[in-house]
Amino acid sequence: MTNRKIDLLSVASFAHGQPHDQFRWLRTNHPLYWHEEPDGPGFWAVTRHPDVCTVSRDPQTYSSYAGGIAISDMEPEGLAAARNMMLFMDPPQHTRYRTLVSQQFIPRSARTLRPRIEELARKIIDRVIERGECDLVSEIAGELPSYVVAELMGIPLEHGRLLYEWTEKMHSSSEAVPEVEKRAASMEMLNYALGIAQEKRQKPGDDLATRLLNSEIDGDRLTPAEYTFFFLLLVNAGGDTTRNLLAGGMLALFENPEQLRRLRSDLDQLLPVAVEEMLRYVSPVVYMRRTATCDTVLGGSRVKAGDKVVMYYGSANRDEQVFTEPDKFDIARTPNEHIAFGGGGTHFCLGAHLARIEIQVMLREILTRLPDIAAAGAAEWLPSNFISGPRRLPVRFSAGRVAARA
Ligand code: HEM
Repeated sequence: MTNRKIDLLSVASFAHGQPHDQFRWLRTNHPLYWHEEPDGPGFWAVTRHPDVCTVSRDPQTYSSYAGGIAISDMEPEGLAAARNMMLFMDPPQHTRYRTLVSQQFIPRSARTLRPRIEELARKIIDRVIERGECDLVSEIAGELPSYVVAELMGIPLEHGRLLYEWTEKMHSSSEAVPEVEKRAASMEMLNYALGIAQEKRQKPGDDLATRLLNSEIDGDRLTPAEYTFFFLLLVNAGGDTTRNLLAGGMLALFENPEQLRRLRSDLDQLLPVAVEEMLRYVSPVVYMRRTATCDTVLGGSRVKAGDKVVMYYGSANRDEQVFTEPDKFDIARTPNEHIAFGGGGTHFCLGAHLARIEIQVMLREILTRLPDIAAAGAAEWLPSNFISGPRRLPVRFSAGRVAARA
């Protein structure tokens, strides 16, 4: 490996999962690596765990607002609109916004959803169990997060699927889905959110969409634009991340049959720890970008004001200085200081509790009701350098009976 082989932009580098050989080389040789961009000024690739945490926890020096969170610079209007999403804000604006919405996301709210999530997971397995085969990604892993978002927002479950299709387009690289199609998908989603706001104003429900409309702190409320973009963010952030974790986690189990046997032998005890290991090992969010607001030093290198700084979570989660045998998938790994939900600090994943519950519930349902589930073909990976996971994973299992008739 030489630096001539480093390419963290091309989809080809992500064709079989994250480019861990490149990440390993970078961590050892250039933990802060200046990566050229064919149509941009270039960026710093940050690959070590402590450096990712430093960037995450210092929003004054590393701004989300200045240039957004994707490597490619956005058009000024696109960036201005995206700044209505908290992922694109810096404190104090971010703090105000996050306080307004986070009351709805406290762990207690996520826990009260558990019985409903269990019901949805049962229904998803019911749909495939008699067939003895399916695509794990679209028919199991992708169903739950889209249903949960629909459930949270108080919209029909079937609409959840539509939102999920739009998200997938938005997250694909421009090599795979043309920019016009990606923009059209975000417009459709924004229009959909506007419609929901109108509907919930006329007919309030006991759901997050209604509570967000009315959420108020010291007389402060979300503006219509902030409301609409929160909807977009929620669907985007909570959908394919959870799906990819579930599918990527199952793939890791298939590839490590002794770990699958071990997990099955003591599901109650091992499941929560195994989920943390899947988060570390799969790291569904490949990167988040910040922009340096001043000259600074990071990991011993000089960063200039205006430079793009890109944090690679999948690499940080295999940092050999932090994790013993980082490439080993060990479902009982403790401690496990992974940063799949972000390196701490102000933007730490708002849905982490909810995601953990969704993943645990779905895995339990899969492993108990499809006890001999196995891969029935090779996984195909998503054409994206931003979100990582299989987009197709055929599986087979002994056909069983639907829960209602069991
Ligand atoms: C396995 C599943 C998930 C992973 C790996 C994940 C990962 C992440 C990451 C890496 C960030 C950015 C952290 C940073 O910049 O410091 C983030 C932010 C966020 N996530 Fe998640 N996420 C997941 C599921 C969810 C779910 C289920 C929801 C909600 C339904 C959600 C909502 C959000 C929101 C709203 C933000 C923005 C927070 C802010 O800007 O303050 N995520 N997530």
